[in-house]
Amino acid sequence: MSAAETSTAGQVLRLLLSGNGERSGQDMAQRLGISRAAVAKIVSSLREQGLEIEAAPRRGYRLVSEPPLLLPPMVEARLKPGSLGLPFFYFPEIDSTNLEARRRAEAGAPHGACLAAEHQTTGRGRLDRHWQAPRGSALLFSIILRPVLRLSRVFALNNLISLAVCRALEKHGGVEPAIKWPNDVYLEGKKLAGVLTEFTSRAEAVEYAVVGVGLNVNQEPEWLAGMDQPAMSLLAATGHAWNRATLLAQILEEMTSLHDQFMAGGGEELAREYAERSLILGLQVKVREGKAVREGKAVGFAPEGALLLEEDGSINPIHHGDVSLLDWEVLA
Ligand code: BTN
Repeated sequence: MSAAETSTAGQVLRLLLSGNGERSGQDMAQRLGISRAAVAKIVSSLREQGLEIEAAPRRGYRLVSEPPLLLPPMVEARLKPGSLGLPFFYFPEIDSTNLEARRRAEAGAPHGACLAAEHQTTGRGRLDRHWQAPRGSALLFSIILRPVLRLSRVFALNNLISLAVCRALEKHGGVEPAIKWPNDVYLEGKKLAGVLTEFTSRAEAVEYAVVGVGLNVNQEPEWLAGMDQPAMSLLAATGHAWNRATLLAQILEEMTSLHDQFMAGGGEELAREYAERSLILGLQVKVREGKAVREGKAVGFAPEGALLLEEDGSINPIHHGDVSLLDWEVLA
């Protein structure tokens, strides 16, 4: 399998999904340029991974169900060729997808590669916090990006991924999340997702960035209640469990088009779209940048990702920091 291609198992599953769950072995063999025996072999490997696929004489194969996992063929089958997310790497357990992505990026992993895990033993949040989620319940993934980008614009990646999460949830999930700059996604006034972006640079240019996302998907309300800050999951908000493989592919698809738009000079327009979902626009906020704390009114966002803060009559860009609202009750 070359870097940005879908595995043949992913292609078989894509055909089954697009054929309303049903396809003949002959049809799949022809479309993929492989033998019927090779199709049968792939179908049995998919079954071994937990997918339920029936075979009926003369009618072919029928996809009955998929396991509640993020198996590579299940994600790949839902991605367009060339999308971010390929190649896709899956870990039943890992220390942290961001750490592993950095290790792989150092070893030469390509732009677009995505790593997802069912469980992280040392999931990392911003400001050295831990990020926790019960095994198999959340989306925990990291994307390796190698954009040709000046270092000063790297923070825009935070805005792009938060926007990608929002767009995917609005389009396909019927929920309306909001973003707390730089990259927390909120639903019903509680944190739904967090982003940890890490990068390396050479001569003021980004060498690679790792954009890590933790999104609460199928966590039960009882588990959320034990978190140290108000947290929300999609299950808790909508009352039903979500297919994480589908959702991950939808986020990756949105991220692909946002990244393309940004790299083609569309930063201004994206900053406006980001502002429409902002939880803090027009509000008095406190921004912690390391030890410094600044207070002012959030009046906009710059194309390269900065928050525009009005302080004592002047408007200043803030590139990174941790925001708290001076009046949290506005969220209630
Ligand atoms: C935050 O809100 O503090 C950011 C949380 C980011 C968590 C994700 S989970 C997947 C990826 N791997 C990590 O170790 N962290 C990020």
